[in-house]
Amino acid sequence: MITIKLNPAQEMGTINKNIYGHFSEHLGRCIYQGMFVGENSSIPNQNGMRTDVVEALKNIRVPVLRWPGGCFADEYHWEDGIGPREGRKRMVNTHWGGVVEDNSFGTHEFLELCRQIGCEPYINANVGSGTVREMAEWVEYLNSDGDSTVVKKRWANGRKDSYGVKYWGVGNENWGCGGNMEPDYYAHEYRRYQTYCRNYGDHKLYRIACGANAGDYNWTDTVMKISARYMDALTLHCYTLPTGDWKDKGSATKFDKTLYYKTLQGALKMDELVTRHLQIMDKYDPEHRVGLIVDEWGAWYNVEPDTNPGFLYQQNTMRDALLASMTLDVFNKHCDRVVMTNIAQIVNVLQSVILTEGGKMVLTPTYHVFDLYKAHQDATLVAHEVQSSTVGIGYAQVPDISLTASKKDKLLTVTLSNPSLDQAVDLSLALGGVRKAEGRLLTGAMDAYNDFDHQTDVAIQPLTGIAVTADGIGCTLPPCSVAELTLAL
Ligand code: AHR
Repeated sequence: MITIKLNPAQEMGTINKNIYGHFSEHLGRCIYQGMFVGENSSIPNQNGMRTDVVEALKNIRVPVLRWPGGCFADEYHWEDGIGPREGRKRMVNTHWGGVVEDNSFGTHEFLELCRQIGCEPYINANVGSGTVREMAEWVEYLNSDGDSTVVKKRWANGRKDSYGVKYWGVGNENWGCGGNMEPDYYAHEYRRYQTYCRNYGDHKLYRIACGANAGDYNWTDTVMKISARYMDALTLHCYTLPTGDWKDKGSATKFDKTLYYKTLQGALKMDELVTRHLQIMDKYDPEHRVGLIVDEWGAWYNVEPDTNPGFLYQQNTMRDALLASMTLDVFNKHCDRVVMTNIAQIVNVLQSVILTEGGKMVLTPTYHVFDLYKAHQDATLVAHEVQSSTVGIGYAQVPDISLTASKKDKLLTVTLSNPSLDQAVDLSLALGGVRKAEGRLLTGAMDAYNDFDHQTDVAIQPLTGIAVTADGIGCTLPPCSVAELTLAL
């Protein structure tokens, strides 16, 4: 039995809805086929965007979507992707799979996709191979209402009103694919580029500087020292590889119990990374004005057999569901400083919430976690106490329970993960005054997944057997499960 004391009166901060953000790149079948099929496709679409995918994304309330990369961002020249489609420049996507990029999905298409999903756009602009002028004019094109040549181009492309895009990333992974820069060089480049990204009218930009790769604390220290006062947020990228070896990361679906626990243990390093990067940021920003954005995270496995290695297409199992829920718990815990995160990537790439094949679509276990967690968006994090132990094999140990509790509109939402592969967990949630309790559950074998012939092998079901007493709630979580409890106070 695990006892959890909930204290809704002790408020720990607001969970920014953007913690539940996503990332899309011109990579493999993420944009093309995954979300954009074009107006003439036989796959049902609205203005070229797949209706099935858009509806599914609306259901999990995607709050923000990052685009166009990733590494692609620092090779992307936005003017190639505007104007009549037939005249758009073709390029070879040398970074991802060597396929032809015809730029048929460009700035207007991205903003139309965001409109349909109902999310905020987050544009990651090009520092590595772009120019200051190019970035400045992209901002002007989207946000200005002035009578300028750049703005007139937008009018000519069918959009009279400015879009008012708020979130702007100034380069991506500039320590690597974004130009192999040293941190002090990038920090000065950042200052220069962001200077010319103007606020137009009421459209105040939220400027995001490129942050570190996982545990590169020197990057954070240097970039903060030189440019903290010019940024609103700094990023962090961290992927989880079960084996820790980039040459053989491990299979998405074939793994043993030890590797299961090792993967989750690896994902939980996020807590230490976030804590330590924030400590460094505090040195230069004691008022906590600058937020931390983890705009690439998730599991990275070997690609599925017989798929283009440059497309990063991988399946998604219950292991990924636990990885997502436990990582989201880390972000929620740090909600006073973590202002946005973007799981990589939204469709058909890495730890996706959706996979597609032709006209078919499946929702992954990770999708269902975002569904179970959606009530936390913009809710107030509340305090809890739990005496937890660990589960695992050998050195591969993880906490035996992971949770987030938040409140909004007289509802308390508690999401709970039981990572154990062998033990069900009897839970006792100490809390008086609960009028009604409902629950939803996601569970399955650690390697269970959905595919195009078995679309609902892993699906959300009601959590039964919830006992409500004067002192609290009792329920049981099966092994390898994630649950959501909704408590009416
Ligand atoms: O998400 C795939 C790639 O991982 C991104 O393009 C890059 O930013 C990171 O290295």
